[in-house]
Amino acid sequence: MDIMRIHAKQGRVDTDRTEALVILLCEDETLSTPDETLLDRALGGALRELRRSREFEGKAHEVMLLHTHGKLPAKRLILAGLGKHHQLGLDQIRQAMGYAVKRVRQAKAGSFTVALPSVTPRGASMYDLSQTLTEGAILGSYQFTAYRSEAPAGKGVTAMTILVSQKNQVSSSSEGIRRGIATAEATVFVRDLCNHPSNVMTPTKIASEAKAVAKDTGISLKILEQKEMERLGMGALLGVAKGSYEPPKFIILQYHGAKKKDDPPVVLVGKTITFDTGGISLKPAENMEQMKADMTGGAEVLATVRAAARLKLPLNLVGILPVAENMPGGRAMRPGDVITTLSGKTVEVQNTDAEGRLILSDGLAYATRFKPAALIDIATLTGACVVALGQFAIGMFGTDTKLKEAITSAGLRAGERVWEMPLWEEYFEQLRSDVADMRNIGGRGGGMITAALFLSKFVGDYPWVHLDIASTDWSERERAYIPKGPTGIGTRLLIQFLITRSLKQESTQA
Ligand code: BES
Ligand code: ZN
Ligand code: ZN
Repeated sequence: MDIMRIHAKQGRVDTDRTEALVILLCEDETLSTPDETLLDRALGGALRELRRSREFEGKAHEVMLLHTHGKLPAKRLILAGLGKHHQLGLDQIRQAMGYAVKRVRQAKAGSFTVALPSVTPRGASMYDLSQTLTEGAILGSYQFTAYRSEAPAGKGVTAMTILVSQKNQVSSSSEGIRRGIATAEATVFVRDLCNHPSNVMTPTKIASEAKAVAKDTGISLKILEQKEMERLGMGALLGVAKGSYEPPKFIILQYHGAKKKDDPPVVLVGKTITFDTGGISLKPAENMEQMKADMTGGAEVLATVRAAARLKLPLNLVGILPVAENMPGGRAMRPGDVITTLSGKTVEVQNTDAEGRLILSDGLAYATRFKPAALIDIATLTGACVVALGQFAIGMFGTDTKLKEAITSAGLRAGERVWEMPLWEEYFEQLRSDVADMRNIGGRGGGMITAALFLSKFVGDYPWVHLDIASTDWSERERAYIPKGPTGIGTRLLIQFLITRSLKQESTQA
C-alpha cells in the first residue's frame, strides 16, 4: 500500500480550496469554536440548523458529508464526531479521523484537508495532535488487496493536509506528522506481513523481509541457519521447527543510534510462528486460518526496528526474531519429548501447541547476551489471554516497575492499552515436570500467567516485560482505524515507548 502524503499548512477553514474539508466536533459544543462559526456563516446557518435538529450531534462514530455548492472554496464538508468533551482523549481523535477518511474515500475524493481540532484533550501538544490525525488517516484507510485480481476502484485517498491556524504551528505539526507517518507506516507493514498467507510468508520469506529492512535502513543483520542453531544448542526452536519442511531462521537486527556504541541496548524479541497448526497436539479446524498471524510479535519487532532507524532515535536497539512453522510432520516433536534449550534448561513438551514459549525461551536466552537495559518480548502467546482480556487490552507481565510504567504510559498514549497480570512464583508449581526442569504447559487455570512464568526462567536478572497480544492481534470486525483481520496492535506502543525513552535520554545527557 502506498502511504498517503501528508503535510501541514497554515490557513483558514473558510478559504481553503480542497476536495473535502474535514472538521472534528465535540458533542456538547455549542457553536463556540471559531471554525464552526466561520463555516456556519459561509453556509448560511446550515451547521447551526443541523445541530438544532440533532441531525448531527457530534457523537463518536458520527460522520456527515455536505456539498458546499460554491459557498465555500472546499467542495465538500465532512463533519466527524468526537463525543463528549470531558471524555475526549487522543484515541477519540484518532477514531474520528479513521471514520472521516473512510467517508472521504467513499466520496471518491483523492485528497482532503483536516482542520486541527480547536477543542483538544488536556495536555495534548501540537505534536500529539498532528501525530494522532496522521495515524487515524493512514490506519483508517488501510486495505489489503495483494491477492485481488481486480484492482480496487480509483486511486484511493493519496494526500492529506493538516490546517493549522498560526504560522508558528507549522513546524511542530510537521514533526508530529513525521512521527505519525513512522508509527502508522510500521503498523501497515505489520498488517501486510500478517495478512499474507502462510504459503507465501514462510520463515525464508520473513528472512528476506528482514534483509530488505536492513538494506533500506543500513542497520546490521545476522541470520542464523539451522546448522548454526544446532551448534549453539537452540533445542527449543529446532524442536518446534522439526515437523515442518520450512527451515527455521533466527534473525538478529542491530541498530546503533546512541552516541556511545556500547550503551546497553533495548532488546525486543518477537514470537514469529508463520503458521501454528498446533503440531501433533493439533488445533481444531475452526478459525485455524487465523494462525497465519501467529507471527505478529516478530513482525512488530521488525517494523519497530525499521521505524526506530528511520526516525534516527538516539538509542541502541536489538530486534530478535525466532522464526519457525509449527507443523505435525513425520519428524515432528511428540508430546512427552524432552528438549534442551539454549539456556541449558530442559523442558518436557507436554503439548506441542504451546510452541510460542519454546521458541521465545531460545530468543530470550540469546537476548541476555546483549546485557539489555530493557528486555521486552511480544507474542500471540495464549488463548487464555483472549479469554481473560477480550479484545481491548494487551496482557502485561514484568519484573521491573519502571519499565512496566513506561510501557503502560506508551500504551495509553498510542491507544494500545496494556493490563498488568501477576507474575507470582506460586504458579510455578503448575509447570513442574516429573522428568525435566519444567514442562511447557501449566494445566487448567491461569494459562496466560503460567506461560509468562515459563518465559521468566530465561531472562536472567534483566529488566523484562512480556506482552501477550493474543487478545488484540486479530479483529473480528472493522473498527474506526482497525481493519477486520490482522490489526498490528502493539507496534505503535513499542515505537512510542522508544520515542519517549530516547527523548528522556537526550534530556538527561544535555
Ligand atoms: N498461538 C497460540 C495462541 C493463540 C490463540 C493466539 C488464539 C491467538 C489466538 C499458542 O501457540 C497456543 O496454541 N497456545 C495454547 C497453549 C496451551 C496448549 C497451553 C493455547 O492457548 O491454547
Ligand atoms: Zn500453539
Ligand atoms: Zn502459537
